[in-house]
Amino acid sequence: MYDRFNRKIDYLRISVTDRCNMRCKYCMPDNNNIQWLKHKDILSYEEIRDITKYLVSKGIKKVRLTGGEPLVRKDIEVLVHMLAQINGLEDLSMTTNGILLASFAKKLKSAGLDRVNVSLDTLDADTFRKISSLGELNDVLEGISIAQKTGLNPVKINCVNSKYNTDQDIANVKAFGEKNGLQVRVIHQMDLAGGIFTTVEGGQGGNCTSCNRLRLSSDGRIFPCLFNNQSYDIRKTGVEKALALALNNKPKKGYNNQNQSFNQLGG
Ligand code: 5AD
Ligand code: SF4
Repeated sequence: MYDRFNRKIDYLRISVTDRCNMRCKYCMPDNNNIQWLKHKDILSYEEIRDITKYLVSKGIKKVRLTGGEPLVRKDIEVLVHMLAQINGLEDLSMTTNGILLASFAKKLKSAGLDRVNVSLDTLDADTFRKISSLGELNDVLEGISIAQKTGLNPVKINCVNSKYNTDQDIANVKAFGEKNGLQVRVIHQMDLAGGIFTTVEGGQGGNCTSCNRLRLSSDGRIFPCLFNNQSYDIRKTGVEKALALALNNKPKKGYNNQNQSFNQLGG
């Protein structure tokens, strides 16, 4: 399928939860001020499967599960299994902070997950704690190693370059990647409300002219653009209409998004 600027849309990012077991300073709004979605508003796995099936029939070929942190949603491997059965879906991946990855990798692989991207901004345990508030660097490193051994390859690393880490941290993460056969993508810290975004070093994000993606929020809205307030509620209009509206209203360029935070849209 194509949007009105003739961009081919074949990539869907699904946020399965807005919850997370970390509190990264650049992602979560002020800790005391988080408005969590209500459980009744969160799509069930069956709803996500049916929506994804429809979108794949229209041309989506790649699906990525994001959060919040996807591994904190109960029995996430059940959803992975449901999505992996969809005919025409060529690539099923997940972006995770890695904290729970060591214990989930095997289950995810057998459920049909192809690969994972793991967030890693530093190799220094103290800096890691400062950025993430919760969580231990060693759990992530173990998760990465087990994911590789389990065959969730290629394992890619997302490294956010922010005011909370240094150029040395980023150089160290890059060297760690080279040594261990991990592709490192450096993402400059974005600001949804301020409209600050750049292209992703080593990745495809942030390039509006070739943007191929739609986003599905965990409360069932299609977002045509991360940097745009506009969304189309599938439960209100049905998926067909929500998709048509999202395609017709996908902006030529991102501008800003004052209503959502990263943990609600999964980056
Ligand atoms: N800017 C850039 N990337 C971000 N992420 C979360 N918040 C931001 C932000 N403000 C990234 C995480 C993770 C992915 C889910 O999104 O580091 O890799
Ligand atoms: Fe959680 Fe990822 Fe946001 Fe950090 S960046 S708080 S790990 S969702």
